[in-house]
Amino acid sequence: APRDAGCALGVVIVGSGIAGLTTALTLQRLRPDASITIVTKGSIDDGCTRHAQGGIASAVLPGDSVESHIADTLVAGAGLCDPAAVRVLCEEGPERLRDLLAWGVEFDRVDGGRDEVPGDGVAAGDLAGLDAGREGAHSFHRIVHAGGDATGLSVQNALVRATRAAGIRVLEHAFLADLLLVPAPEPAASGGESWRSVGTAAETGDGSARRRDSGEVGAGPRVGGAVVLREGRREVLEADEVVLASGGAGQLYPFTTNPAVATGDGIAAALRAGAAVADLEFVQFHPTALAVPGCFLVSEAVRGDGAVLRNAAGERFMPAAHPLAELAPRDVVARAIALEMERTGAPVVLDARGLGSEELERRFPTISAACRAAGFDWAREPVPVAPAAHYGMGGVVTDLDGRTSLAGLWAVGEVARTGVHGANRLASNSLLEGLVFGHRAARALARVVASDVGPGASVPVPVSVDRAAVDRAASPSLSPRRRPQREEIQALMWRHVGVLRDAEGLQSAAAALAEWDMSIDARGASGIADLPAASVHELETANLLLLARATVAAALARRESVGAHFRADAGPTSGRRHASGIAARSTTPAE
Ligand code: SIN
Repeated sequence: APRDAGCALGVVIVGSGIAGLTTALTLQRLRPDASITIVTKGSIDDGCTRHAQGGIASAVLPGDSVESHIADTLVAGAGLCDPAAVRVLCEEGPERLRDLLAWGVEFDRVDGGRDEVPGDGVAAGDLAGLDAGREGAHSFHRIVHAGGDATGLSVQNALVRATRAAGIRVLEHAFLADLLLVPAPEPAASGGESWRSVGTAAETGDGSARRRDSGEVGAGPRVGGAVVLREGRREVLEADEVVLASGGAGQLYPFTTNPAVATGDGIAAALRAGAAVADLEFVQFHPTALAVPGCFLVSEAVRGDGAVLRNAAGERFMPAAHPLAELAPRDVVARAIALEMERTGAPVVLDARGLGSEELERRFPTISAACRAAGFDWAREPVPVAPAAHYGMGGVVTDLDGRTSLAGLWAVGEVARTGVHGANRLASNSLLEGLVFGHRAARALARVVASDVGPGASVPVPVSVDRAAVDRAASPSLSPRRRPQREEIQALMWRHVGVLRDAEGLQSAAAALAEWDMSIDARGASGIADLPAASVHELETANLLLLARATVAAALARRESVGAHFRADAGPTSGRRHASGIAARSTTPAE
C-alpha cells in the first residue's frame, strides 16, 4: 500500500518522466513526512522524456528576456494560450533549471567547459555560460541542452539517480487501469471526522468505490487512489492525492516520435473518472521525423543551426510558406511539408550538409548515429523526413498548481492541459512544463492538510470533452461491433485526424470508431473485476479507442483552423472563438 501507517499524506504519482520525478523529488524535500509512491508502467526510464533532444527553453542568455519567451510562446500558441500560465512557465523556468543542476544534470556550456560569459542579470551564477541553441518560432538562442542532442536522456538519468538516492518508492511495470473513486467526506465543520484521520478503508474485493469507515461521506466522488495491474494482479493503491504525470498519446498514430508506452492511459482514466479534459484536437506533428521505420526524431535544433528543407526537385519551399522559413512555428512547417509531399507525390528532405560533418557529430551525436543506422551519411546527403505525431497540447484541465476539476486528482506534464501551449506548443517548452508545473504541484501538495478536502479546483477552463458526447458518438451502431486491432485505430487517425483534416474525413472516422468496441473502455473502477484477464496491451488499446473518439469529437466541434488543428474545409480565423461544439472556451485572452 502506498500509505505508510500513520503518515500524514499519501501520494501516488503515475509516471516517471520529468514531470513525475520532479513532483516526487520536490514533494519529498518539502514534506519529508509524506509517503510517496511512483507507479510507472514500464521501467522507470521508458517514457518520452529520455527521447527529448532539442532541450529546455529558458531565457538565460545575455540579451534574452522572460518577456520575449512569453511573447514567442503566445504567438506559437495561435492566440489560445492562457497568458497567466505562460507567464508562470517562462518566469519560473530559470529557477527550475537550477533544480536540475542540483540534481546533477550537466548542461552543455560554451567552449564545452565551464567558462562563463558575463550575464546581464538573467544569466547569473550557475546559469551563466550555458550553451543554448535556437528552434522554430524562438526569437533568441534559448534552448539549453545536454550531451549535444541527448538532453532528455541526461535529464532522465539524473532524475532517476536522484529519485533512487532519495529512497522514493517506485513500482515499475505497474499499469494504471483506473482511478479509484471514493465518496467525498463531509466537511469537518459538519461534525464529520477529518477523512484523513479515519484510517484505511478495507478492500471491498470488487474495486468499487468504497466508503471510508468513519461513516461520514458527503457529495462525491473524489479520487482516493489508483487501481493498477502489476505482475498479472490487480492492486488497489489507496492515496490521499493522486498525481497523473503519465504523458501523452502519440500511439494514436502509426507514425510518431513517441515510444510505445505513450498510450494516453492517464487522460483516458481521467475521462472515465469524470475530470474535465480539453483541447484534444490540438495534436502536434513534429515536422522532421526521419522517414524510416521507427520515425526517429530529427531535432528542430538542426534547422536552428542552419539545415534547410528541400522538395524532390532540390528546391527550398519554406521561404514561400512563412517569413521565418524553416524556423516558422512547428505547425506551419509540418503543414507545409505535408502539402509539399501531397503536391509532388514525393518525400521531402532535410539538408544538413552545410553544418559540416564535424559539427554534426559534435552537436548532434544521437541523430548522427540514427542516420548512420538507417544507412544515411547526413553530412554528405540530404535525408528524407516527414511529419510524425509528437505531442498533445490537450489533456486533463488543471489550474496553475496542477489541480484538476476532480478532488484528489492532479495532473502535470503532457497529460495536463495547463493552457501554456494553446493550439500549438513552442519548441522545447515541454520539458520545461513538466519541470515548472511538477514543482508547483509539489509545492501545493505539500500544503495539503485534512481541512483542504473538498471539491477539485474551480479550474477556469470548462472547455471539457464531454464524456457523454463521446459515448453518444459511439452509440448509433447498427451492426454488431467488433474489437479493433490497434493498428486499425492508428491508420484511421492518420488518414482522417492528421496534419490536415476536414469534416468529411472526421465524420467517416467517427462512424468507423462507432463500429468498434473494447468493452472495458466504458467501465470505471467498479467494472474491472476481470482486469487480470485483460492484457495491458488490450487495456492500452481500449484507452486509445476512447481517446480517438474524444479527439475526433473535439476536432469535429472546432470548425475553424487554428494552430495544429487545420481544417482544410475552413479558413483560418483568429483562433479566439470556438465556432461551435461541445463547449465554448472561456479563458482565451480576448474573452
Ligand atoms: C526537437 O528537438 O525538435 C523536439 C523538441 C520539442 O519537442 O520541443
